[in-house]
Amino acid sequence: MTQRVALVTGAMGGLGTAICQELVKAGHKVVAAYHPEFDNKDQWLKEMSAAGYKDFVCVAGDVSALADCQRMVAEAEAACGPVDILVNNAGITRDRMFAKMEKDGWDAVINTNLTSLFNMTKQVSARMAERGWGRIINISSVNGVKGQAGQTNYSAAKAGVIGFTKALAAELAAKGVTVNAIAPGYVATKMVMAIKPEILQTIIDGVPMKRLAKPEEIGFACAFLANDLSGFTTGATLNINGGLYYQ
Ligand code: CAA
Repeated sequence: MTQRVALVTGAMGGLGTAICQELVKAGHKVVAAYHPEFDNKDQWLKEMSAAGYKDFVCVAGDVSALADCQRMVAEAEAACGPVDILVNNAGITRDRMFAKMEKDGWDAVINTNLTSLFNMTKQVSARMAERGWGRIINISSVNGVKGQAGQTNYSAAKAGVIGFTKALAAELAAKGVTVNAIAPGYVATKMVMAIKPEILQTIIDGVPMKRLAKPEEIGFACAFLANDLSGFTTGATLNINGGLYYQ
């Protein structure tokens, strides 16, 4: 298979790590984009290397800041050449009931989880179209599809991710560039483990499969969408949620 250059944002988080691993397994060169305040980069690289995942290029920046995204993609391209596969994975939560939500919690989630798609995709999409091949994979959430109490900010951003995906898919369909979303359910990552245990248990009880997703079950879907044979799949939202919700 053809080796492509993949850039993954939020690469060193729970989901991002699994996405990087699955893309490496699929034979791609992976650029791991991480937030500059993440201070475990060296440890992450060590653990990845010990597990057999080597040769990452790392770029640091805040996906909510346009200038950081311009710089990260420039650094990635200087090291590896043009980005063929972009995985917009970086995301945060600031869960609060709407009655108690402050504007800063709203802005942080919208900027990091949604505006970041503009900031990152803008750097790569036109050149993917010029080259006639590209994959843009956006991580949404089951809670962007169904809505979740305590997450008006996050549900709005993740629903926005799906709208962005469909609109850009239509714009790029004739150019060999596919744009798809993955809407994971509750995955066994730090983000989900931060939910109060009694609330989390109720959530798991409500999942027909009665468990959380393994991060690699989402990572694998990224590798699937990045594959040449996924070239006819565009504008789709892949729901991977153990049966929690489907349309
Ligand atoms: N639906 C409707 N109302 C609910 C509710 C629900 N599911 N859960 C709680 N409430 C109500 C309670 O009944 C209570 O109402 P009263 O005040 O009238 O009694 C009120 O909300 C409690 O509000 P508080 O602000 O006092 O609650 P809190 O501070 O203890 O917790 C919360 C608020 C942090 C949002 C908490 O409910 C929570 O963590 N909920 C889970 C949210 C969630 O699923 N987050 C997913 C994070 S992981 C992720 O996002 C990844 C992904 O993509 C899936």
